[in-house]
Amino acid sequence: MSEQSSGIDNVMQENRLFPPSAEFAGNAAIGSMQQYQELWDRAEKDPTRFWDGIAKDELHWFEPYGDVLKQDGHNVEWFVGGKTNLSYNCLDAHIEAGNGDRKAIIWEGEPGDTRTLTYRELHGEVCKFANGLKKLGVGVGDVVSIYMPMTPELAIAMLACARIGAIHSVIFAGFSAEAIADRNNDAKAKIQLTSDGLNRRGKVLPLKDTVDDAMKKSPTVEHVVVLRRVGNEVQWTEGRDHWWHELCDSVDADCPALPLDSETTSFILYTSGSTGKPKGIRHTTAGYNLWAKMTFKWVFDWKPDDVYWCTADCGWITGHSYIVYGPMSAGATCLMFEGAPNYPAENRFWELVEKYRVSIFYTAPTAIRAFIKWGDEQVEKHDLSSLRVLGTVGEGINPEAWMWYHEKIGGGRCPIVDTWWQTETGGIMMSPLPGATATKPGSCTKPLPGVVPAIVDESLKPVGENQGGMLCIAKPWPGMLRGVWGDDQRFFDTYWATVPGNYLTGDNARCDNDGYYWIMGRIDDVINVSGHRLSTIEVESAMVSHEAVAECAAVGRPDEIKGQAIAVFCSLRGAEPTEELRKELKLHVRKEIGALAVPDDIRFTDSLPKTRSGKIMRRLLRDIAAGRQVAGDVSTLEDYTALAKLASTED
Ligand code: WT7
Repeated sequence: MSEQSSGIDNVMQENRLFPPSAEFAGNAAIGSMQQYQELWDRAEKDPTRFWDGIAKDELHWFEPYGDVLKQDGHNVEWFVGGKTNLSYNCLDAHIEAGNGDRKAIIWEGEPGDTRTLTYRELHGEVCKFANGLKKLGVGVGDVVSIYMPMTPELAIAMLACARIGAIHSVIFAGFSAEAIADRNNDAKAKIQLTSDGLNRRGKVLPLKDTVDDAMKKSPTVEHVVVLRRVGNEVQWTEGRDHWWHELCDSVDADCPALPLDSETTSFILYTSGSTGKPKGIRHTTAGYNLWAKMTFKWVFDWKPDDVYWCTADCGWITGHSYIVYGPMSAGATCLMFEGAPNYPAENRFWELVEKYRVSIFYTAPTAIRAFIKWGDEQVEKHDLSSLRVLGTVGEGINPEAWMWYHEKIGGGRCPIVDTWWQTETGGIMMSPLPGATATKPGSCTKPLPGVVPAIVDESLKPVGENQGGMLCIAKPWPGMLRGVWGDDQRFFDTYWATVPGNYLTGDNARCDNDGYYWIMGRIDDVINVSGHRLSTIEVESAMVSHEAVAECAAVGRPDEIKGQAIAVFCSLRGAEPTEELRKELKLHVRKEIGALAVPDDIRFTDSLPKTRSGKIMRRLLRDIAAGRQVAGDVSTLEDYTALAKLASTED
């Protein structure tokens, strides 16, 4: 390990390599590394020409654009002056191509009720709801706040907004009234969409009650539209509240998609920074649309007869780009599911895969770790032979969890695409291509065409092979965020001020000698032990490779001698939390990565504090490990009781 570098030390060794089968590669749109490299090179050498060719073929243009790219520092415009429409590209385009009868959404509710909508039917519903919104005075640039369960109407609402140039702001239906009001006020939302309630593990969550509370502090909202989903009683404010079905009762069945300028804001989506108030990430129309569509087709090697299932919620960017806009602009058949993975039992997902013959499955590492904990028998009951591509997103995946996913879910046969990206990037940035890339467990492998990564150390110099540093993106790409809603200064400070001319991702990464990228966690999460900068994921992966460990989080805590000591919070797979096991785990880490990375404290716990999208909140664990009062914003925490329990764990 180098002593001088201001980069991050790499201590993880992972040599397993999984090339796609000849059969898979033979049927894939991009079936070799050579083909991938050609595409990537073309995009890098002449981005204008590359994207011009794709944009003309893949999007419908009401009016053609002039310049492909106009750049002024970090302010960029793509497909300048062109006119298109996201909703048109997701719906009308397929009907015109003769695919109107293809299934767009296969939906299953938590209680087991189902609905199927073809592209033609979806188009009809979207038109009606768009006309309903217009009746309430919604027009171009108005912000529509959406707080709804995972029903087809959630996708319908998003597509209806896009159709008429309204800006949607989807808020995950697990957030509090306070969180809704904060976001509504920041966005100056004019309309609120919700439902009477939401099914969650056999119970009803009264969404409308939460919205009623939020409305007390959302002065800009003029109307609330309520979908009847569960039939529970709701309070009603005459004049303000409208039933969805009544609003759509007497409207025109057609609503032509409005030609919108390429750079029109399509949506904002709030993402919590590690501290401070949530930022409204602003995305556009044409560039975002093209990025979501192309990355969907490339990364999943999508074919028209695939049944594609992304288990995310539309409240996150994954739901925006890979439930709605990406797959639907490609014309894919998407499974959409309302419920939880463990209700009524821990095999619910696999039951769905078998029932609907799902062929592409995209989920999060946090879910995979839960599946492992629930036991292989939940999986083995089901025929998963329809699967052909598996994906992950949201966090790094520990190599051992990757191997389990590969063997138990993929039957050793399905390529895994570990997709690295962010709310801000609009779509996937780095990922294997399933027919081309030989995968390495734990690596998101290579950048997609159009993505030019750079890794620099703290003095902004490029790091060498296998050296960790700050991950940046050096060139603009069509799907990139265009701003932070109402806060240009924060946009500049957060993403552009640190490394001039580069987009700062906020993640650390290293690139190995095969040109494969390894994400090493958030910049703030680095642990500095005796001058060595270690990434959390490496310590965690070593721990998780022990059979007793289900899930863990490593953080630094102050230490007089070493600067920082390593504290690991750890949940077990049924094993007893004994002193013996603690010693054994320390030895195990020593063997896996060396003495430097051996945890000083191991604190056993039943559960870790997570955001509602499943990311571990290491910031809170740092406070607990240091014996400090937990500070900062905890509004995105999923389970408050987990915090109190953690404080009482001790090494
Ligand atoms: C952050 C972005 C991407 C949509 C869902 C989350 C982490 C995401 C990976 C991955 C390692 C990953 C990064 C990133 N992340 N995917 N494949 N490997 N880390 O979106 O909430 O904006 O979070 O999630 O730290 O910066 P988000």
